[in-house]
Formats: sequence, structure tokens, C-alpha cells
Amino acid sequence: MFTLVQLSDPHLGPLPAVHWHQLVSKRAFGYVNWHRSRRAALGPRNLRHLVEDVLAAPHDHIAVTGDLINIGLRAEIDTARLWLDSLGDPEDVTAIPGNHDAYLPGAIRHFEHAWRPYMVGDDRGAAPVAFPFTRRRGPVAIVGVSTAIATAPLMATGRIDQPQADRLEAELAELADEGLFRVVLIHHPPVAGSTPWHRRLIGADRFRKAIAKSGAELVLHGHNHQTMVNHIAGPAGPVPVVGAASASLSPHHGRSGGSYLVFRIARTEGSFTCDMEERGPRVSHGKIESLRNQRLAGPEGQPAGTRIQA
Ligand SMILES: [Fe+2]
Ligand SMILES: [Fe+2]
Repeated sequence: MFTLVQLSDPHLGPLPAVHWHQLVSKRAFGYVNWHRSRRAALGPRNLRHLVEDVLAAPHDHIAVTGDLINIGLRAEIDTARLWLDSLGDPEDVTAIPGNHDAYLPGAIRHFEHAWRPYMVGDDRGAAPVAFPFTRRRGPVAIVGVSTAIATAPLMATGRIDQPQADRLEAELAELADEGLFRVVLIHHPPVAGSTPWHRRLIGADRFRKAIAKSGAELVLHGHNHQTMVNHIAGPAGPVPVVGAASASLSPHHGRSGGSYLVFRIARTEGSFTCDMEERGPRVSHGKIESLRNQRLAGPEGQPAGTRIQA
């Protein structure tokens, strides 16, 4: 059994003190926006409780599916490195970037340096970060894709270009030959119609084509800040596409706070089973507990969206 944890969109706060000259163009929008809304909803307490819960239980690997920070400040990137270090050894933790990590073009250079140990393929040696990258862990291959681009103000789009989609298709075909359970990490949801236009993934069709051709056993994304299960076409049947909530979202206005996901992957005769558990604070008392259990792959699958009632 291989246990993979997914944490997403921590949007680590609080924002460091900034000089006004750093608040050029888009960053000024983001700074005001964070103080207006995210500061209240994306507090650190829920994230801290979730991480304590993750670390208290046995697991093999943690995947962080982007939006670690808010407006691409150097100090935020350095803080996020410390947070990644607190999750575990880079061997056991994988991160991919989201649109907030790439808030302005210079931020990409900074996070690719600061977060490198967590977003580099097994075979890269001292080479720079490149996407997609692959990390083989037991029966699982973790493939990290980047959709992170700097966008215009008030836009939260992502993009996968044709060369990255082509490399992904080739990599997934190779991993299929190795008989590994292929988990693809991508920040933006690749499912058609799953985001408003200004938050969409540009080139989502390229990603879906790569999966339709070479297949994957599981696709994990963030960005929408809510838990969701969808499917896209694979060569041998539908591929589950799972979105995780923002781990920092505090319970408020009668809504439960952010959660995290656990995937338990086991090899069976010639195939795999994959069971998903969602863990987060229950609205009634705020303690972290199991919110949902769902079989994603293997026999006796439950219907999508089955919830354990309180
Ligand atoms: Fe986000
Ligand atoms: Fe995002």
C-alpha cells in the first residue's frame, strides 16, 4: 500500500511587510485583494491543524498542488520553502506551482530556485527545474506539470503549451510500460467547463489529448479551492481527476474549512486499487476528521461523491 497525501492552495500568509515600490501593477491588486478577503478566509490556523493531522498519520508522500503563496514576493517564496521543509524531506514531498506563485515573471525564477528540491525529477542531477518532471516512488510515478504563468491583473489563468503536452504524452507512455500507477499533478483543473473563463487553463485540450493517448491512473489539481471529483477520457477508460480544497480556508459562515486528501494505492493482480479519503474540520465541532471516503479505481467502486454522513 502506498499512501499519498494531497495538500493544495495553502496561500501562505500573512503577507510580509512590503515597500510601496514593490506594489507595481498587478501586485497592488493582489495586495489589496489579500487584505480584503484572503486574510480573513485563508488564515494559518486551519492549515496548521491539517498539517499536524497529516504528520500524525503514516504516509509515504505529500503532493502540494500549487498556489503556495499570494503575490510572488521573494519573502513569501522563502517562507514557503520553510513550510515545505516542515512537511518532510524533499524526497517525500513534491510541489508544483500555481498562478499565484508566478504572480509576476521574476517570481518563477525565484521559486524554481528556492523550491527546487521539491520540484525536480529524479534524473535531473544539478540541472534546472523542468516540466514535466517525474519522481518514481515504489509502485507510483508522480509527474509534475506546470501551468503557472504571469497573467494580467484580475486574471488567474494557467497555460500548458504544446511542447510540454508532447513531453507529458511521451513520459506517460514510458511509465505505462513500467507498470507504474501514474499520478499527474497540475494546478489548474483540466476538465472542460470547471472554471470561469478568467480562471481557465489555456491549452486544457492539449493536456486532455495527452491523457487520452497515453493514459494516467489519477490526475490531481488545486485552484478551485473545493474538493471535486471528475473524469476525463483515457485510452482504457475514464481517468479520475480530483481537485483538493484550499488547505488554509478557515471554517466560517457555517461552511467547513479547507481539507486535504489521502489516496491509498495498492497493487492487485495486474492492476491497482485507489481509495480516496478527505479529511478536514467538521462544521459542528471543528475537529479534523474523515469527511468522505470514495473508491476511485478498482472493483466495487462507490458512486462518485459518496459522503459519510455526520
Ligand atoms: Fe488558489
Ligand atoms: Fe490558482
